[in-house]
Amino acid sequence: MDPKSIGVGEEIVPPGEAEEISRELAINLSLLNTKVRPVLRGEHPKSDGAVRAEFEVLDDLPEALKIGVFRVPARYPAVIRFSNGRATDDNQGDIHGMAIKLFGVSGERALESDRTATTQDFVLADDPVFFIKNVKEYLYFSRLVFQARSSLWGKIVFIIKLIFSRSSPWPSLKRAISKKPDSPLRTAFWSQTPYRLGERAVKYHARPDLSLTPAPAPSRSPNKLRIATAEHLREHESSFDFMIQFQTDPIADPIEDPTVIWDENRSPFVKVATLRIPRQVFDVESMNAFGERLSFNPWHTLVEHAPLGGINRARKAIYEAMSIKRRELDGFPLDEPVASDIPAV
Ligand code: HEM
Repeated sequence: MDPKSIGVGEEIVPPGEAEEISRELAINLSLLNTKVRPVLRGEHPKSDGAVRAEFEVLDDLPEALKIGVFRVPARYPAVIRFSNGRATDDNQGDIHGMAIKLFGVSGERALESDRTATTQDFVLADDPVFFIKNVKEYLYFSRLVFQARSSLWGKIVFIIKLIFSRSSPWPSLKRAISKKPDSPLRTAFWSQTPYRLGERAVKYHARPDLSLTPAPAPSRSPNKLRIATAEHLREHESSFDFMIQFQTDPIADPIEDPTVIWDENRSPFVKVATLRIPRQVFDVESMNAFGERLSFNPWHTLVEHAPLGGINRARKAIYEAMSIKRRELDGFPLDEPVASDIPAV
């Protein structure tokens, strides 16, 4: 398809992508460490806390936004899992995740295997863009990572190709993995990749209300993100504005390239919901175990918010297979949970 002829919200699937996704999945499965219990996620293995929350859809949304979960004003119980991308020591730079699961959301689902589910996930990270633009380049990157893990020569090749190759993702990756937040509750997160909103396309953004969450006392603990969250929530609530940004121009705001920021001057983020995190004690065995048994997946969604673009098409096969594998090994349930499964602590 001629890229100039594409419309708002349209995807362009490049030839060979399905095969690349199968290869990418095979690499992901082969790198999953199945020796530890519970089996850690292949990405974002370290949880900085799974907390209870409430997602309140605003009651004065304009008609254009009243779609899917935003159709009517409502309050959904939610769980948020905060995570590190790779780092086991929170003092190291890293990318961080905020995975949100709403409960009690009914409607047609994007995944056939999710037919009876009533959850809606939003998977966000603390950088506005993803570091790689499409599945082909992601597969190239994953193969280098795979070789780097297998031999010293692989490591050398990885460093040379990553840093010195033309159109290297390194500058973007380096920026993304250099984040050193003092608390997940004070961090801004983005979906990076686009999603449908009815006929149109949007990106998501969660912006913390800093007036509710002052900076924590300085700490050098390797678990300082979990500690800061637990200490704040023991006495006080926190809150995020949940926002969406419309795609306005199919070329300038591409669907198929999440390395591109959609210009906020042309299309500012607008608030559609408040994500309230009440005062609570969450760092206990039952809640930690619940967070680990969950599967957050951008494809756990109403069809009105179906994920868009190649990176999200790859995530469809990969998240499902990877989370099934780890949960089967752990003996965790595979069905999506309901609100009454959230531990009451
Ligand atoms: C092709 C690209 C990607 C691949 C292959 C990939 C792979 C994965 C895998 C295998 C998991 C663990 C799933 C599980 O076991 O439940 C995961 C988790 C996660 N990914 Fe991705 N991912 C990709 C892109 C992205 C993007 C664009 C974002 C940006 C928001 C992202 C953010 C996250 C987060 C926050 C988690 C942790 C979710 C949780 O707390 O359970 N990923 N990813």
